[in-house]
Amino acid sequence: MRIAVVGSGYVGLVAGACFADLGHDVILVDNDEGKLAALRNGETPIHEKFLPELLERHRGHRLQFSHDLHEAVRASSAIFVAVGTPPTDRGDADLSYVESVAREITGAISEYKVIVEKSTVPVYTSEWVRRIILRNGADPECFDVASNPEFLREGTAVTDFLFPDRIVVGCDSERSAQLLRQVYEPLTSGSYYQRSDAIPQPDRASIPAPMIVTSSKSAELIKHASNAFLAMKISFINAVASVCESVGADVKQVCTGIGTDARIGRRFLNPGIGYGGSCFPKDVMAFRAVARECGYDFRLLDEVMHINEEQRQRFLRKVRSALWTLRGKRLGVLGLAFKGGTDDIRESPALFIVQALLQEGCKITVYDPAAMGHIEKELKSNLQCASSAYEAAAGADALLILTEWEEFANLDLHRLTSALKYPIVIDGRNLYDPELMAAHGITYYSVGRTASHSESVPAGVRNGQKKA
Ligand code: UDX
Repeated sequence: MRIAVVGSGYVGLVAGACFADLGHDVILVDNDEGKLAALRNGETPIHEKFLPELLERHRGHRLQFSHDLHEAVRASSAIFVAVGTPPTDRGDADLSYVESVAREITGAISEYKVIVEKSTVPVYTSEWVRRIILRNGADPECFDVASNPEFLREGTAVTDFLFPDRIVVGCDSERSAQLLRQVYEPLTSGSYYQRSDAIPQPDRASIPAPMIVTSSKSAELIKHASNAFLAMKISFINAVASVCESVGADVKQVCTGIGTDARIGRRFLNPGIGYGGSCFPKDVMAFRAVARECGYDFRLLDEVMHINEEQRQRFLRKVRSALWTLRGKRLGVLGLAFKGGTDDIRESPALFIVQALLQEGCKITVYDPAAMGHIEKELKSNLQCASSAYEAAAGADALLILTEWEEFANLDLHRLTSALKYPIVIDGRNLYDPELMAAHGITYYSVGRTASHSESVPAGVRNGQKKA
């Protein structure tokens, strides 16, 4: 099938490369000539496992890059719209890019095509897209608008796309549903998974991929409700972690206890410094705004956002209670990305914490395995950048762990303690066992667990820290 993907951001680029891997002919359209040139030259603009291989495999063959939206639409049966939907000042999604694509493609719709929303958009967007295309003179028999939300996570985007828990297609006509079934046929029939060159299967893959066909409005809601639910799960466990800290319970044990209930599940139940990234913060806010507009006061989501913000403040209080005064203190920081496995620092709670500590007069040396290149110039001038975790720890009053990178969970603790000025680790991601840290003489603060104090800390100071 010939497919156009409009927008070469995270979702568009991954979807384009994966559609090509399923055997379709894909034209990826973007109006940023610089980005297109980089893609044509073999660059991969985002840090994403398997993406360089897929781009290499299909570039110039099944995957073309173009700025000509009209030509791409004319040549394709399915047009996936994956342009940005940034938040406005009011918290709802700015759909002006979606609207302008709808307007622009109208002239190229001469035979039947399905326009598919791939960006995360609020309910009613597909109705509006349809209305805009009709207003601009397209024949109603020549197109349908469908919604096919994407659930991919950064860092595992390619495997999430090719081994999805489910594929949701929201279609209001059988003709469009049929076309989308064809697009995903290699996944739903399982034929893709039998290929010797298929991307390796991750754990817990549902094979063949199940497809859920719904109305377009339901599909739009499924996307927002899924992200809001996951964010709620994280805020819930962060709130439970705060209670654990007050009563001296261990949140990891609590997570195992509640997560083994199949109705709850263990995944997305890790407490930390709150969720970040380009999706959860934006989507929870947008879903809140959508509900308000539809006449429902979704206050539960206000609390989800409030707990998330409070979680960062709690972490900052922990740093203060571990170090007493902050002005002039040297801190080693591990992690800037909003989560492990990605170079993305958008809405990163780690970045927020670093900025807050700089304002309090700390001197910070930071290390992140992938995100260092994304630090803004102004911030960079206030930071020292290290090229390893041990370099970040060298001479520091304490080490802060802010991103759940696997390499941060496997540090050589002897090497770490000899690098640090004081053996204090404040872990916002619960990567270590408090007993192990205590055995290495490390004073260790984590989330939802009692702090463990190294024997070398005088008892009076220890008590003071506990009280604070
Ligand atoms: C998310 C959704 O998971 C995905 O389905 C959607 O398409 C896009 O948004 P992503 O933003 O890539 O994906 O990140 P995700 O892995 O969901 O993590 C989001 C944030 O939650 C990160 O900051 C992460 O550190 C945090 N998180 C996640 C926790 O704090 N605890 C958890 O248990 C899981």
